[in-house]
Amino acid sequence: MKEPLAWLGNRLRLLDQTRLPNEEVYLELTDYQDVAEAIKALRVRGAPAIGVAAGYAVSLWALAASSQDVLSFKKELDGVLAVLAATRPTARNLFQVIERLREVGDGLSSVDAFKEKLVQEAAAIHLEQHEADRTLADYGAALLGAGASVLTHCNTGPLATAGCGTALGIIIRAFEEDKIKLVYATETRPLGQGARLTAWELMQAGAPFKLITDSMAGYVMSTRRVDAVIVGADRIAQNGDTANKIGTYTLAVLAHEHGIPFYVAAPTTTIDRGASTGSDITIEERNEDEVTHCHGIRLAPAGTEALNPSFDVTPARLITAIITEQGVIKTPCL
Ligand code: MRU
Repeated sequence: MKEPLAWLGNRLRLLDQTRLPNEEVYLELTDYQDVAEAIKALRVRGAPAIGVAAGYAVSLWALAASSQDVLSFKKELDGVLAVLAATRPTARNLFQVIERLREVGDGLSSVDAFKEKLVQEAAAIHLEQHEADRTLADYGAALLGAGASVLTHCNTGPLATAGCGTALGIIIRAFEEDKIKLVYATETRPLGQGARLTAWELMQAGAPFKLITDSMAGYVMSTRRVDAVIVGADRIAQNGDTANKIGTYTLAVLAHEHGIPFYVAAPTTTIDRGASTGSDITIEERNEDEVTHCHGIRLAPAGTEALNPSFDVTPARLITAIITEQGVIKTPCL
């Protein structure tokens, strides 16, 4: 498994996911603003991995910070956290990390102790993500029977969590347990996280898969055996409504129509106690160029206006269960 993120003591090594699968380019970042740019540009992406990267961004800032008193250090920290918060609005894990780091200094009276605590906390967040992913994979793989064919969307493997993945982590675990016959991976327009990243990770795992365009999902569910659809989550509301990569809602409707179990896999850090339902979730809107162009090449005529919501919300009633590291939650009853 290739590490998408690694803390090197005074710099962050990051696998640039925008260059995959054709090039494996590692960036070494020393400035928190470069990490913020990397999150915005999807060099690191997937809600949990964004949270982990944000933790290390704060470490980079803290190591270089010159403030001598705790009050001004804390004020500067708030500014850094605000820059990170402005990168990807839907990814709950990012905000969970921000809230956690904001509280880290409570009760500390020295800047050095504050810095040390921030650096330790970032490493702890990364480690906890690894642990949550491993446990979640156990719970999820246990839901699949032998010879399962599963369909997944976007990319939810190690690249997306900096651990062993959520939905794709479950699928890879089930494959290692000899349970997987075939994985259908959706291309995931507009940016192709399925085609570029999930296909890359499944290939590395040696798991059998077929890539499909997003619009083939109905055909596949109606003509082939699909035992489960398993996707990740960017933010889960208290009632179980789930925001995930655009196209997830369509898959949930199709799965419902075809009587196929629809599972969401996410660590509990993706659950937003401040969102009662999906309508409380902010959906990130990205640049129209991502839809009108592909890898910089224009697809649509110049002047075409496009929509580009990065996520949609699947209502809890279409979700069979949410798989977390704390167990499997049957919806809608979070
Ligand atoms: O825009 P992205 O690539 O960050 O979107 C990623 C997803 O939608 C994932 O499904 C989600 O973050 C879960 S990652 C384990």
